[in-house]
Amino acid sequence: MDVRGLREEYRWIISARCDQRCTKNQYSHFMTDAARQKAQMDPGSVVAPDLQGAIGVFDSGVGGLSVLRAIRQALPHETLVYVADSGHAPYGDKSSTHIVSRTLEVGRWLMERGVRAITLACNTATVVAVRELREFAPVPVVAIEPAIKPAVSLSQRGGVGVLATQQTVQSEGVAHLIERFGQGAQILLQPCPGWVEQVEKGELETPRTLELLREHTQPLIDAGADVWVLGCTHFPFLLPALRRLAGPAVQFIDPAQAVARELTRRLSLLETPATAGQGVEWFYTTGEVGAAQQVMSQLWERPVEVLSL
Ligand code: DGL
Repeated sequence: MDVRGLREEYRWIISARCDQRCTKNQYSHFMTDAARQKAQMDPGSVVAPDLQGAIGVFDSGVGGLSVLRAIRQALPHETLVYVADSGHAPYGDKSSTHIVSRTLEVGRWLMERGVRAITLACNTATVVAVRELREFAPVPVVAIEPAIKPAVSLSQRGGVGVLATQQTVQSEGVAHLIERFGQGAQILLQPCPGWVEQVEKGELETPRTLELLREHTQPLIDAGADVWVLGCTHFPFLLPALRRLAGPAVQFIDPAQAVARELTRRLSLLETPATAGQGVEWFYTTGEVGAAQQVMSQLWERPVEVLSL
């Protein structure tokens, strides 16, 4: 099926189902094994998460946790639900149809749970699929994209490097950003194959990771780019290693905080009240739960329980 076919299919599915809530029973297959066992021993003990009114945040994998971190700082009381589509990652070397399909599918799942807003914490999904998601979502969609505009104003030498996935660097979305904001600057688009996979494994400083970082940052160093844009939400987790490679003269831009500010602004315009919250986060993955639990706990810097989606 192509992108047009997907749009037709989702137009129907989402309009028919987005404002329905799942019943408690429907949640059972989203539980971890431990949670399910607990529920069997004492059926009253596990209450399926009520995500009505929560903020949905999703990425192709675990990278969007760098955005979730900024959202949590900006909105300490909201209930946040994070979906890592790790079972279908990386997006960066997949077709547009795959990315649109996955973005709509995860978006639909979040909408069926009654989220108040969705944050697309994936540059690749934004540049390929945000238009389709916005077309169907009855809630605000705030999306991250490579921060080319602030990078151009920050650069002293007019040299900006954009580190991103293959799909992002070749996208029309990025071409459009350069056309609008890149005047007068030399913008080097650098695809970084393999980086997402290393972060998905939690390998932030292993020899293989450092080798990949060295290989793909050398062109930016050779070109003398003095501002490097982190154009993929996985890459902030590689920042300590990247800073060492780049040296002190290079400045990095991660738009996560700007996304959190925009989300806060969009929520303030809604009539639906903020969740009277205790700042709970729910973590889901479409990948393998055990592996996700380990790497997400590492990146979130405290143990988290991950549910299967
Ligand atoms: N975190 C995603 C991004 O910002 C990675 C995409 C991928 O899975 O390749 O682009």
